[in-house]
Amino acid sequence: MYSEKVMDHFMNPRNMGEIENADGIGEVGNPVCGDIMKISLKIEDNRIVDARFKTFGCGAAIASSSMATELVKGKTLEEAWEVSNKAVAEALEGLPPIKMHCSVLAEEGIHKAINEYRIKNGLEPWEEKTPYGEHTPGDGA
Ligand code: FES
Repeated sequence: MYSEKVMDHFMNPRNMGEIENADGIGEVGNPVCGDIMKISLKIEDNRIVDARFKTFGCGAAIASSSMATELVKGKTLEEAWEVSNKAVAEALEGLPPIKMHCSVLAEEGIHKAINEYRIKNGLEPWEEKTPYGEHTPGDGA
């Protein structure tokens, strides 16, 4: 049911933990399954130089946070904002449809952390295409 990539990132998660004195933190949760994810970012000159996650959730959520932190590291904030849940799922070589919402958590966590940084620095927060919490399990989002 799960790809080798998902299993790999679940068994050997990359970037697990929390950055001390992070520049941006995003905490998100899925009210339906109750899983939660915390993303912390180190940002220098508009670029993400480090990303970590703490996820209390299912295997797909852990694999998604691991992959998402890998994908955004080294990217500018603009580039990282464009990393969608679909990109995370693709990088994991697919997720079962009923597990797509787990990758949404990773996208939302990164977005929230970026916006927390932007607000702290007197910048306008960027707008979510899909507001927090409006994805539901199984909607394929
Ligand atoms: Fe909740 Fe995967 S079942 S994030």
